Amino acid sequence: TTHYSFKLPTYCISVLAKGTGWVRSVRAQKANLFLHVNDGSSLLSLQVVASSELNDPLLTFGSAVEVTGTLRKSPHQNQPVELEAQQIHVVGECNPVDFPFKIKERHGLEYIRQFPHLRCRTNAFSSLLRIRSEAATAVHSYFKENGFVQIHTPVITSNDCEGAGELFQVEPSGPQNEEEENFFSVPAFLTVSGQLHLEVMSGAFSRVYTFGPTFRAENSQSRRHLAEFYMVEAEVSFTQSLEDLTKVMEDMFRSATEHVLAHCAEDVDLFHKHVTPGHRVSPEGRLFNLAIDILNRSSEKFAFPTDWGCDLQTEHEKYLVKHCGNIPVFVTDYPYDLKPFYARDNQDHPEHTAAAVDLLVPGVGELCGGSLREERLDLLRARLEEAGLEDTYSWYLDLRRFGSVPHGGFGLGFERYLQCILGVDNIKDVIPFPRFSHSCLL
Ligand code: 4AD
Repeated sequence: TTHYSFKLPTYCISVLAKGTGWVRSVRAQKANLFLHVNDGSSLLSLQVVASSELNDPLLTFGSAVEVTGTLRKSPHQNQPVELEAQQIHVVGECNPVDFPFKIKERHGLEYIRQFPHLRCRTNAFSSLLRIRSEAATAVHSYFKENGFVQIHTPVITSNDCEGAGELFQVEPSGPQNEEEENFFSVPAFLTVSGQLHLEVMSGAFSRVYTFGPTFRAENSQSRRHLAEFYMVEAEVSFTQSLEDLTKVMEDMFRSATEHVLAHCAEDVDLFHKHVTPGHRVSPEGRLFNLAIDILNRSSEKFAFPTDWGCDLQTEHEKYLVKHCGNIPVFVTDYPYDLKPFYARDNQDHPEHTAAAVDLLVPGVGELCGGSLREERLDLLRARLEEAGLEDTYSWYLDLRRFGSVPHGGFGLGFERYLQCILGVDNIKDVIPFPRFSHSCLL
């Protein structure tokens, strides 16, 4: 019985079984002892029924046990089976006074965050981790079903995709050969995005994706930023317009969310009922390219300017999502000068925009960022020359020299996705071990 939602086959009355797990509740009556034992496979615990002679003061909330007995159909509705114990062995004690989580108490996410080494033992965080695992599976399934090839883009890289300067440099910790300034002979960094490596691959594969850890040295304690987070990135070749990308974003969002709701119903329910009550997720989106007009027409007082050419701030993103009825919203065609060198020039006047798109979602703000890429050699070369980057990116220009095609892609912040579907306010509560400025516990 490794999976506690296990059902006995109809022809079976009972089987000899051994159950292992951690005690979630203990109820001692005159004649009988009842335990709930959880092994992490689901929110559901195994009900153990024993004669009160088997009671032991070491059977406390959080202790690890091995129970041997007979598994039989349960007379109660809320569980398919129960284990009638012949023997209960306490494998690992758990002192209830010192243990930071108390039986029958519903501890808040902020409280349990103080115990990164223990919080997986709470219902809320173990549900979160199962949902996270299932959501990752869902993302891979979506791409597999839609003809994408997975590429393991490198964690260590010598390029800075965003040019944003939020890089962690990678060097050995021990003493180095004095003549060599850098281990790799060039400065190397933890990746801020796998995009450029995916673009390499999109010269041979029509659809590629990558899903892995991403690093940004953001000196921010915000509830939406981490120094290490997971990003899902896709790159699509032979694109016609931004809608080729927004369609993939929307389909992936919808398909992953449906998968999670179907495979982790109890865990998601726990969040929606108890951890983040009142939260609902809506997978419908709306495409939008008049963001600035809407901001300017609103009577809202913004702290940051809403003039054309200014970047959207969190307050503007929030307003736009609210204005559209609290559903996911795409904002497209950003001022050209605000976007990195690879964003495709729309060559429109007088605004001068780049074919970039962000997906904004309720409660979180920016969930995805992407663009069509500049596939035209002359335009790309001119922009790189202007920035003095043509030597650094000569290999990137090669991609446009040999069989260049219109293409584009996007990145989705996996933690922000989980925040969005579960209604979790702080990004530190949706990743097993959060890393952010001034904190790298464990
Ligand atoms: O918008 P960003 O910076 O896009 C890129 O890096 C592109 N090169 C991706 C691409 O086109 N392949 O980041 C993408 C998403 C953001 O929308 C956000 O959800 C998430 O990554 N993100 C973060 N999540 C947590 N902590 C941080 N510090 C994040 N920075 C970005």
